Amino acid sequence: MKLLKGVVGAAVLAIPMMMSQGAVAADGKGIYGSKCAGCHGPTGMGTVGPRLAGQQEKYLVEQFKLIRDGKRTSGKSGMMKGAVASVSDDDIKAIAGYLSAL
Ligand code: HEC
Repeated sequence: MKLLKGVVGAAVLAIPMMMSQGAVAADGKGIYGSKCAGCHGPTGMGTVGPRLAGQQEKYLVEQFKLIRDGKRTSGKSGMMKGAVASVSDDDIKAIAGYLSAL
């Protein structure tokens, strides 16, 4: 049972790693749609959370990490923190690339 868990765990880790190293970059639009759109709106124009569409990529990545890692706690940041704990650094790069181009 322990061995099986290890194998499953390794696969869960390996699949996103293989995907991020492949020719196809992480799907920023797809991740945004499933993990962010509920609060930032379907096209990033903001609803509960602020507008993200058209913001600078670097700014989005930095602010995102600050909130995810608990270093930015202003306003309603706490509301977002729990929802985005599983979003990786590669994921946020892809998401920010998508959003900044909107
Ligand atoms: C549960 C709702 C919620 C979810 C889900 C959520 N956010 Fe947020 N987000 C917020 C709120 C609310 C704020 C404003 C925080 C504040 O008051 O300072 C925010 C702020 C931000 C900011 C800072 C914007 C700025 O102008 O400073 C970024 C970047 C951001 N979110 C990105 C994301 C990304 C990317 C995702 C998906 C991976 C996501 N958020 C998911 C609610 C959410």
